[in-house]
Amino acid sequence: MRGLFVTFEGTEGSGKSTQIRALAEFLREQGYSVVLTREPGGTPIGDQVRRILLDHANDEMHPRTEVLLFLASRAQHVEELIRPALKAGKVVLCDRYADSTLAYQGYARGEDVSELRRLIDYATGGLWPDLTFWLDLPVEEGLARLDSKNRLDSEALTFHRRVREGYKRLAAAEPQRWVRIDGTLPRAEIQEQIRKILLARLK
Ligand code: TYD
Repeated sequence: MRGLFVTFEGTEGSGKSTQIRALAEFLREQGYSVVLTREPGGTPIGDQVRRILLDHANDEMHPRTEVLLFLASRAQHVEELIRPALKAGKVVLCDRYADSTLAYQGYARGEDVSELRRLIDYATGGLWPDLTFWLDLPVEEGLARLDSKNRLDSEALTFHRRVREGYKRLAAAEPQRWVRIDGTLPRAEIQEQIRKILLARLK
């Protein structure tokens, strides 16, 4: 039996991490075997790459270097953690994945989106999520919720607006995979919606 690969996407401060933790706890109570992970990172090698990516000391990083580091982290993540978990029939909940690369490095940073898709396919061996939740809210609202900013959080407002626009396009292009959730709703309501949709998929 193959498990279910579920990813969470959104601009900064969209509340993904809080939602994903509550969801993992709920699913475990329901008896599902759950792997909760995130990108960049998710493995010891990936976490080392994460530090390079988010460090303000690396403000001079070239956009292609940035892409390749996100993909290096992802390649390791897929082979070491995600694919084995799916093979074992688990539910994998991942905080950001390939769509973040398309939205941030592609639509926002301006790297060629179809080229990025090819590189992502190479890095992941073609593994795409079964289901993607997009917690959508105005970028100003999300940024106001952050208490510290990493290298990418510190990009200009226009950058984050392009990220949001990117998600909009990605979701529109693949409506069978994407579920948009109104990120301005109360936390409990968001969790309720996510649970309902996910349980329907798991049955
Ligand atoms: P993180 O602190 O995990 O942010 P968040 O809590 O918003 O998920 O930092 C991850 C940052 O990396 C975030 O700004 C999004 C960015 N990112 C990319 O630009 N490309 C990618 O492929 C991924 C996975 C993340």
